[in-house]
Amino acid sequence: MRQLTEPDPLPLTGGPKLRWGIQAPGVIAGQFATSLRRFTDQPVTAVASRSVGRAEAFARDHAISSAYGTYEQLLDDPEVDIVYVASPHSHHCEMAVAALQAGKHVLVEKPLAATAAEGERIRDASVTAGRFAMEAMHCRFHPRIRVLDMLLKSGDLGDIRMVTADMGVSVPVDPDHRLFAPELAGGTLLDMGVYSIWLGVHVLGLPSSVACFGHLTETGVDNQAVTVMSYAGGRQAVASSSLATFGSGLACVNGTDGRVLIHSRHSAPGNLTVFDAKNQPVAEFIDHSGFVTAPEGLCRQAVWAARHVADGLIESPHHPLSTSIGVLRIIDEARAQVAATGDSRQ
Ligand SMILES: NC(=O)c1ccc[n+]([C@@H]2O[C@H](COP(=O)([O-])OP(=O)(O)OC[C@H]3O[C@@H](n4cnc5c(N)ncnc54)[C@H](OP(=O)(O)O)[C@@H]3O)[C@@H](O)[C@H]2O)c1
Repeated sequence: MRQLTEPDPLPLTGGPKLRWGIQAPGVIAGQFATSLRRFTDQPVTAVASRSVGRAEAFARDHAISSAYGTYEQLLDDPEVDIVYVASPHSHHCEMAVAALQAGKHVLVEKPLAATAAEGERIRDASVTAGRFAMEAMHCRFHPRIRVLDMLLKSGDLGDIRMVTADMGVSVPVDPDHRLFAPELAGGTLLDMGVYSIWLGVHVLGLPSSVACFGHLTETGVDNQAVTVMSYAGGRQAVASSSLATFGSGLACVNGTDGRVLIHSRHSAPGNLTVFDAKNQPVAEFIDHSGFVTAPEGLCRQAVWAARHVADGLIESPHHPLSTSIGVLRIIDEARAQVAATGDSRQ
């Protein structure tokens, strides 16, 4: 079987650095800080929480020199170049805009914001401030997605007619958890669906129409959804996501002359296999980076952000804000459709 390699990999150390400040030290912030420290030479210089005790504990755990009890204090720290926003989706816009207005660059956890309108506010603030902004769609920078790009560019897969992507976790409904809280923009579409919808957009672009069927929890957020994106020429992308069941985590990019299987979990680092027009495996990419889980791979996006800032860019050519906002438009539409039809309380 032909072995594929990542084109022009970006070294994780030895390149441009940014001094990172982390806002909202929850689960993902801890994983991000660990990944940066283990695999890169990007320094984390400050952390801010709504509680100074939580900030200090996080700073101790991750060897960070400055800990603040308000998010605003971190924005006044001249030792911070870029803010990593790791709050619930509902707070991404407000915190990213404040950071940009304070002259910081931002890397904002996925989804970029809770709505497309909020995403546009982040983009406008970035342009006004002349500061870099990017959604932390970490999978975009995993080697196998860069290999997928190479395959798409080659034309060897023919006309891409179908993209399918699935992701789900089984989480008991808990009204106090951000995933089930409407005021924190809970629900599966914004949390897990965003990865699969992003993949469809990454491969096929923005769709001409969106249809979504789903189900709401008793707390009023979508806990399962299937989003169908349709394009000219009979092309389609299907994104399924669930908080009620574990999903396969598989993704497929199917063309008239071949197809690509992105092994589970498609948002994590990992391998892919290419099949020919007769559905025989003909090539594969094996990720030898040693990263196995999604948390380990979180550092790549940070190294790319540092590269882009050093190049004088205010957004990533590989993951521009227009893509993140386009994905949010699809999710806006999908959530509206589920809210109209999927309410189990009616
Ligand atoms: N890339 C990935 O693989 C990945 C994985 C999981 C999550 N995420 C994203 O990361 C973000 C955070 O998710 P998480 O799982 O890390 O959440 P989490 O553990 O609940 O942490 C979020 C943090 O936000 C802060 N916060 C600010 N306002 C809040 C509010 N009103 N309610 C609750 N917390 C608030 C809290 O920190 P302080 O109060 O201490 O400031 C909290 O610890 C989400 O947008 C999610 O989509 C990404």
